[in-house]
Amino acid sequence: MVNGKVCLVTGAASGIGRAIALAYGRHGGRVIVSDVGREGGEETAAQVRAAGAEAQFVAADVSRADDCRQLVERTLAAFGRLDVACNNAGIAGEMAPTADYPIDVWQQVIAVNLSGVFYGMKYQIPELLKTRGAIVNMASILGQVGFANAPAYTAAKHGVLGLTKVAALDYAAQGLRVNAVGPAFIRTPMIAGLGADAAAHEQLVALHPAGRLGEPEEVAELVLWLSSSHASFVNGAYYPVDGAYLAR
Ligand code: NAI
Repeated sequence: MVNGKVCLVTGAASGIGRAIALAYGRHGGRVIVSDVGREGGEETAAQVRAAGAEAQFVAADVSRADDCRQLVERTLAAFGRLDVACNNAGIAGEMAPTADYPIDVWQQVIAVNLSGVFYGMKYQIPELLKTRGAIVNMASILGQVGFANAPAYTAAKHGVLGLTKVAALDYAAQGLRVNAVGPAFIRTPMIAGLGADAAAHEQLVALHPAGRLGEPEEVAELVLWLSSSHASFVNGAYYPVDGAYLAR
């Protein structure tokens, strides 16, 4: 589905990003695995290579604009072009009501989850215009609805949807597609703390009419499709992947 395409994934040392990198690799992509964490990132790149695809790890902290610029430069140095970018890196922050939310945590969550997507797109877009490529931004169901005690995360993910729409409008006529996906709760290290004990886990599961949490691979399938030419007229859109979380 992304045969021969150069695919970049941020936050790919773990969870959903790792599953996306592996999906790109399995479907013929040449993968740039990026993360702030080197060990996990190198491990993902090794797993992609073990599955028979080309992959290279490039360290980058998406909250730093200069890292995002260098990430694109290093992608070009490695593979000569960029066809697909998935801006997936994100952090959960803390849980606290709005008035009690620590300002430094607010700033950190916005820096990674919102500014990180903007910086990423800012430097990816000039290269993606050359290849008539595609961007998939990682939002969340919390890009669409609220969640008590998560003001920074919810605001950042709502912002990702806005950014996605604007970038799609800015470049649709030039053949670039920009979409966003919105997972509900997915079994990754990010949410390990939320479902720590059995009762908390059950409460989390109960939010999903499907009766279970999602798996990273189920998000990766949607990202893969949006990244491919199968989605050639899908642009500026947001797709939940949520076990019917948003349906009620
Ligand atoms: P995870 O914690 O397993 O993986 C996140 C990865 O992002 C880690 O490898 C981490 O090192 C990396 N990262 C963190 N800050 C970074 C930075 N400044 N620069 C570069 N990389 C950085 O989390 P998960 O669940 O795989 O999350 C991936 C994305 O999916 C995030 O954007 C998250 O908000 C989103 N998401 C996750 C959901 C879930 O329930 N797990 C639900 C909805 C959205």
